[in-house]
Amino acid sequence: MPAESRRVNDWRVQQPVRIAPSILSADFARLGEEVRAVDEAGADWIHVDVMDGQFVPNLTIGPAVVKALRPHTTKPLDVHLMISPADPFLDAFAEAGADILTVHPEAGPHLHRTIQRIKALGKRAGVSLNPATPAKALDYVLDDIDLILVMSVNPGFGGQSFLSGQLRKIEAIRKRIDASGKAIDLEVDGGIDAETARRAIAAGADVLVAGTATFRGGAGQYAANIAGLRG
Ligand code: DX5
Ligand code: ZN
Repeated sequence: MPAESRRVNDWRVQQPVRIAPSILSADFARLGEEVRAVDEAGADWIHVDVMDGQFVPNLTIGPAVVKALRPHTTKPLDVHLMISPADPFLDAFAEAGADILTVHPEAGPHLHRTIQRIKALGKRAGVSLNPATPAKALDYVLDDIDLILVMSVNPGFGGQSFLSGQLRKIEAIRKRIDASGKAIDLEVDGGIDAETARRAIAAGADVLVAGTATFRGGAGQYAANIAGLRG
């Protein structure tokens, strides 16, 4: 079904597509400036990829950087925690100014407890599914979460190719969200460009993370890059 008609049918739940540039592809020497530039260029959220060198094979940023970026935008800071365990750092990211905290079930040890802690901190709670993690992992937490993040690459690096096999998972999760009647965002992360954005939206995504596709070409291109992802 074309994205447009599906969107109309699912008007109860699905929101307009929002774009969340991943600052992993930004110039790290000028992060504040880069966040302001994508904010002004039309970004809806700012996606922050936190990696610990253990849960994923890369190391990025911690709460101090989130805190430093907070004054540079009023848009939601969408913090994707690719760290294990995540629990010892939830309070620090919340205090630093994160709006959304997303964790992976495999980060352990108790996903439900982690979600409860995020909610107790007054933040929106997300669960992220790696390419090999089934939608079934959401079975007993769907009532407690605000966002589902489907990884369309293996987490750890920007610039990888979109895994088309994840489209079926996005479709299945879209059906479950619609059946639940809850306002749960369905975000897709990895390998998003104008073409894969269109396919992810058609499958039911309503938030798209884009690093490479947002930051290519320099600041003068950011507005056009972001606009080109809206489907
Ligand atoms: C991968 C990260 C992504 C990544 C996306 O582990 O979670 O957010 O930065 O980068 P692109 O858009 O370049 O695939
Ligand atoms: Zn991410």
